[in-house]
Amino acid sequence: MIRQLVFICVGIVLVVGRPDASSRILGGQVVAHGDIPYQASLQYWNTTFHFAGGVLLNTRWVLSTAKGVFGRAGNSINVILGTNRLDIPFGNRQSDQIRTHPLYDQSIHANDVAVIRTAAVIAFSVIISPMTLATHFINDGVTAQVSGWGAVNEDKTGESVVLRRVAVTTGPCVNTEFMTFNSANHFCAGAPTNDTRPLVGICTRDVGGPLVLDNLLIGIPFHHDPRACGQFLDGYMRISSYRAWILGNIPV
Ligand SMILES: *[C@@H]1O[C@H](CO)[C@@H](O)[C@H](O)[C@H]1NC(C)=O
Ligand SMILES: *[C@@H]1O[C@H](CO)[C@@H](O)[C@H](O)[C@H]1NC(C)=O
Repeated sequence: MIRQLVFICVGIVLVVGRPDASSRILGGQVVAHGDIPYQASLQYWNTTFHFAGGVLLNTRWVLSTAKGVFGRAGNSINVILGTNRLDIPFGNRQSDQIRTHPLYDQSIHANDVAVIRTAAVIAFSVIISPMTLATHFINDGVTAQVSGWGAVNEDKTGESVVLRRVAVTTGPCVNTEFMTFNSANHFCAGAPTNDTRPLVGICTRDVGGPLVLDNLLIGIPFHHDPRACGQFLDGYMRISSYRAWILGNIPV
């Protein structure tokens, strides 16, 4: 009986405390079909599980974080392109090769980048086209756009079947017990001030997607605080630092 009461009380707190999903990616808006033609959804082959975002770079390769693909068979990824919705049928593209950054270190989230090759050549169209890598170092105070199908709630729940985007502003990284940032390889971005409301940023399964400024890829999100989304600025891999490795590993 007490146990049931506890569950009921917790349930009431969760329902009452649930933030308004429409205001939260966190804080984002729905992306129209074709508006982000370089956005990929990465799923495990033989499943429909979206585990990360990706960014189309040329006719064979997409960029993502290493975490979701490290150690997996080269043909075990399904690269989804050309859709803003994961709930309606889309074309499957099986991978045939994965290259993870040689200095990727899972324990400290270092060099968390990987490139994935599709077995078949990708034909570009109005809804499928590649993104260019930025060369310049990103400082604090820059506002750019990130997109993904990740969770829409602070508590990491609420998968979005429709692609969402949000504008985030770069600012100082805050180290936590879970993550120590270094500015040579990372930068951070989120809500433009220290205000925690409204919550803005990435959440579970937005990692690996595009952060774009002036039609150039400047970062890919790789880290949000594991306890809750939107509490700190999120961590992004700094594309200018990985550009040479990426370009050297996406031969067509
Ligand atoms: C997909 O499933 C089939 C049938 O179970 C299996 O033979 C194949 O190895 C799987 N492919 C991958 C990449 O996991
Ligand atoms: C955010 O918080 C940090 C640490 O408390 C502080 O140094 C910084 O000035 C704050 N920034 C803004 C924009 O309020």
